[in-house]
Amino acid sequence: MKDRYNYYKNILEGERLPAAIVDLDVLDKNIEDIVRRARGKKIRVASKSVRCRAVLRRILDSHPETFNGLMCFSAEEAADLAAHDFDNLLVAYPYIRELQLVRLFPKIKEGKEIILMGDLPEHFENYNRLAEKYGVKLKVCLDIDMSTSFPGIWFGVFRSSLRDLSQLKRVLNTIKECPHLELMGLMGYEAQIAGVCDSNPHTWFINPIIKLLKKLSISKIHSRRKAMVELCKREGFDLSLINGGGTGSIESTFEDESVNEIAVGSGFYSPILFDYYDSFHHQPAAFYAVEVTRKSQAGISTCAGGGYVASGSMGREKIPTPFLPTDVKLIENEMAGEVQTPVRHTSKLELGDPVFFRHGKAGELCERFNDLILVQNGQVTERARTYRGEGKCYL
Ligand SMILES: Cc1ncc(COP(=O)(O)O)c(C=O)c1O
Repeated sequence: MKDRYNYYKNILEGERLPAAIVDLDVLDKNIEDIVRRARGKKIRVASKSVRCRAVLRRILDSHPETFNGLMCFSAEEAADLAAHDFDNLLVAYPYIRELQLVRLFPKIKEGKEIILMGDLPEHFENYNRLAEKYGVKLKVCLDIDMSTSFPGIWFGVFRSSLRDLSQLKRVLNTIKECPHLELMGLMGYEAQIAGVCDSNPHTWFINPIIKLLKKLSISKIHSRRKAMVELCKREGFDLSLINGGGTGSIESTFEDESVNEIAVGSGFYSPILFDYYDSFHHQPAAFYAVEVTRKSQAGISTCAGGGYVASGSMGREKIPTPFLPTDVKLIENEMAGEVQTPVRHTSKLELGDPVFFRHGKAGELCERFNDLILVQNGQVTERARTYRGEGKCYL
């Protein structure tokens, strides 16, 4: 589209700013591209990277044969989604407290498929105790560690304690002693492939090293995941769910034939971080607009709000990036601020004009806005509540 700035500006005429926008035309294109990248493998939608029920529903309904339930980021979130007609909910992170888990049990009794995650024996013992107390058979999934290490480098994340077969065997023995649990899945998330960009213009000097580490890691990851699945089988567990990957690793995770579903979330909105991968490109479907409220000197406008920095290790790529007009730049000494964000520009910007920014990480944008303004074909089609807009603050 030639004049994208004016396209969105016209749509937002009369809207309150700041506002978050999801362009459904772009979202639909990203959905198609992601389905194509998965080449027939099932996709579990990572809800943390969407955080809006209307958008989750649109994605799931677009290709029911490919999209296979949700990967939730919190047990309370899964309980809320189950109450709203969502099913097949894998809670991808362990939770301990009864208060956080308790709302799941009535939903499981109603027949909803909800699977809890763990890696330590204590996780499963705790789940077993609660399952007994609430009178349910609880489906559980193992989270195995997919990190790789090289001399002096830990390439991966610190999450699961299950790094080798003997550790896995010990946990399987614990699960065998838990009559109220049904082990039905294994997840191995290769964060260092899926979540680490390898074409980051802000750290261009380490991109070749990351690419090399990724290349060296992939075969190790696949053989570890395969060996762990095989051990579960040998120990008598019939696993129907083997999950791996994320937006950044669809192609390589596909190659691991032990995996029967790939988790994907960020690619749908395609935030800034996902511009910085060599092997795929999606289009920005979600972004936000702030309003020019001051003009302190020629070529500099100041907008209200805008400082929505993303989580994780700090780097330039976590800072919101001006999107439209295309010549707008942040000012180094101020960047995107708590209440005001000044920008440098050559294009004409008047008081009241919107400036569009993109967020670093997909779902976190929704923690700043009650609604997503859904637009299609030059019009606002819906105002969809985010989790935050529903009054939900899970983490
Ligand atoms: C367990 C798990 N799987 C998959 C993903 C990938 O999600 P996305 O596609 O949003 O990068 C994540 C992201 O953190 C995750 O924690």
